[in-house]
Amino acid sequence: MRTVDDLEVAGRRVLVRLDLNVPMDGSSISDDGKIRACLPTLQALIDRRAAVIACSHLGRPAGAPDPRYTLAPVADRLARLLGRPVGFAADVVGSTARSAVAALRPGDLVLLENLRFEPGETSKDDEVRGELADQLASLAGAYVGDGFGCVHRKHASVYDVPARLPHAAGYLILAETAALRRLTSSIRRPYAVVMGGAKVADKLPVVNSMLGIADRILIGGAIAVSFLAAQGHSVGASLLEGDQEAARDYLAKAAARGVNLVLPTDVTVAAEGSGDAPRTVVSVTEIQPGQMVRDIGPQTAGLFASELTGARTIFWNGPMGVAEIPGFSAGTRAVAAALVDSDGFTMIGGGDTAAAIRRLGFTDDQFGHVSTGGGASLEYLEGKTLPGIAALEAECAVPAASSSRAVIGQAGGGGKVRDTVVTEPCGRP
Ligand code: 3PG
Ligand code: MG
Repeated sequence: MRTVDDLEVAGRRVLVRLDLNVPMDGSSISDDGKIRACLPTLQALIDRRAAVIACSHLGRPAGAPDPRYTLAPVADRLARLLGRPVGFAADVVGSTARSAVAALRPGDLVLLENLRFEPGETSKDDEVRGELADQLASLAGAYVGDGFGCVHRKHASVYDVPARLPHAAGYLILAETAALRRLTSSIRRPYAVVMGGAKVADKLPVVNSMLGIADRILIGGAIAVSFLAAQGHSVGASLLEGDQEAARDYLAKAAARGVNLVLPTDVTVAAEGSGDAPRTVVSVTEIQPGQMVRDIGPQTAGLFASELTGARTIFWNGPMGVAEIPGFSAGTRAVAAALVDSDGFTMIGGGDTAAAIRRLGFTDDQFGHVSTGGGASLEYLEGKTLPGIAALEAECAVPAASSSRAVIGQAGGGGKVRDTVVTEPCGRP
């Protein structure tokens, strides 16, 4: 994979795909870890006199502008962290974005509005994605992929744009993949995987893959609820996502293969919609109608901690409960503490998990590696091809970006527009 160090960027407009999908509390950012993780690449591009066009998604808006998902607060935070002005375009490829991009000078940075305001970003139709990718690519002369948290998404800005521009990987993607390689080759065993959090439909199949990789799998969070239901327990008012049939199948497979699939034995529940209180701890066999599972219980927390003792490699994705509410954070805290106590290599995968542990007072340096991508890490560990990595790895002989948009400002007097055909990793044929 070509790295950003090897990409010609001086005097060029460079489109940088980031994962700035930070947890929000209304319009305020509750954890800026993902923004901080982008700074090395952005700073390097600025220092090298690129004109930087940063782009990202935030949340899951439905393919149209939605003020709840604006990236405007992220532009402000980025400016504060970089200590320099950051422009913000109120659309993605519309007239506002185009004029903001046209006004960029070398060393400037503009952030485009949420990519998912454009239906083409997430479309399953190659042509529809391709149209948006054409528009995005026309803004720049080169592309840097550094949104590790979304490399598992076959989205226009992640997958299709790098096929249209000279491209390279940023420092975050390089660091994340280097850490993940420790969990794919010569793994130190026992290897324990802890899974929790939401996005159950995404994560359930991962459990299946992990059955062939990990020695023990501990399950909490919303995904545990699916397994409890699959075991025939009543789960009260808990939201039931995912395919119970599949969960039953994985339980049987785990038993047949001797993989220790550890489920909660007790849970902390609360009445639907009651927020923090009142809460009760019940056995998983005694969840009442109207009760929602909000965390693993204390007995389960102790069980998980003892299962993690002695593991030489631990990967953890997904909080054990609604960890942002203090009354439901004990399970997540217990798992974090078990990782801190471990002598093995520990990795936390996922923006939400990382945000949760920081909120509980843990620091990144207490763990072997804290990844910004949960789903992306899991798919990497499953051995899947990640569209965003594959697109960065793809090489093809193409004309170098040759239009006047590619090079700006005649930076340093050397901004001569190229018109010869050179071999560069991918560009518009
Ligand atoms: C994440 O937070 O997991 C990434 O930003 C990807 O978001 P998505 O699951 O909505 O694609
Ligand atoms: Mg997430």
